[in-house]
Amino acid sequence: MQKIDGKLVSQAVRDDLAQKVKELAAKGQRAPHLAAILVGNDGGSETYVAAKVKDCEEIGFGSTLTRLPDTITEHALLDEIRKLNQDSEIDGIIVQLPLPRHISPEKVINTIDPGKDVDGFHPESVGRMVGGMPTFVSATPFGIMMLLEYYKIETKGKHAVVIGRSAIVGTPVSILLSRNAYPGNCTVTLCHSATPNIRDLCLQADIVVAAIGKPGFVTGDMVKPGAVVIDVGTTRVADPSKKTGFSLKGDVAFDEVAPLASFITPVPGGVGPMTRAALMKNTFLAYEARRTFTP
Ligand code: GUN
Repeated sequence: MQKIDGKLVSQAVRDDLAQKVKELAAKGQRAPHLAAILVGNDGGSETYVAAKVKDCEEIGFGSTLTRLPDTITEHALLDEIRKLNQDSEIDGIIVQLPLPRHISPEKVINTIDPGKDVDGFHPESVGRMVGGMPTFVSATPFGIMMLLEYYKIETKGKHAVVIGRSAIVGTPVSILLSRNAYPGNCTVTLCHSATPNIRDLCLQADIVVAAIGKPGFVTGDMVKPGAVVIDVGTTRVADPSKKTGFSLKGDVAFDEVAPLASFITPVPGGVGPMTRAALMKNTFLAYEARRTFTP
């Protein structure tokens, strides 16, 4: 069994990006710039956005954080996004989700310029991904693909079982793994809450991707010896021994499954760090694409 080290791979991605920023600076060119919008002061969102801003600083990207009150109207928020769309110094835009209930996330996502959609949530980005065209792939699926690639895990002809059909993880991962590309060329089974025999299907998997948010859902009796196991779960479970008061639990019962697996991602330290690195990579790709295509 080999543990997939998301910290190591994400650091390699960050180091590569930091190096590229240095090379740009040496040529007198500006660094990529990510703009984040945070509406309200939800604790989780505050933490995530702060981490994204810190990642930019560490790599050498510019970043702008726009904080807006949760009383802001949808109209005013859309205007803020349009301003960022127009700003030629900004390469990537993210609006942290969830949003207050009076604001439509669909309208917000649809207002972001697809050329700056580094979250990969815009329907144009999703459509391009489905069509196999170059696009922004959302951070967690992109991070998973980078892990498979880094560890040179064979995917062609394999049976991948993806558990969970969320729009930001399960569904895009199932599409990416079935693409005619590497990583890809898998036969994919996408399981969800209406799938009656997940255990039987999972037992047939060469690659398992667990993304349902149920701690310890994938147990040892569900995994074929030699399978590759990717755990996307990050459920916060109360843990008084931790400074934060919680620990992160994956969707896989790691201790049972690890001895069976050929490769497995731990939680924490597997997919999580890759999600952050993938957003940075998308920001760089947005920068490069804008430099290439704008006069
Ligand atoms: N909220 C939770 N995950 C994400 C993400 O990847 N992007 C944005 N914009 N909001 C989130």
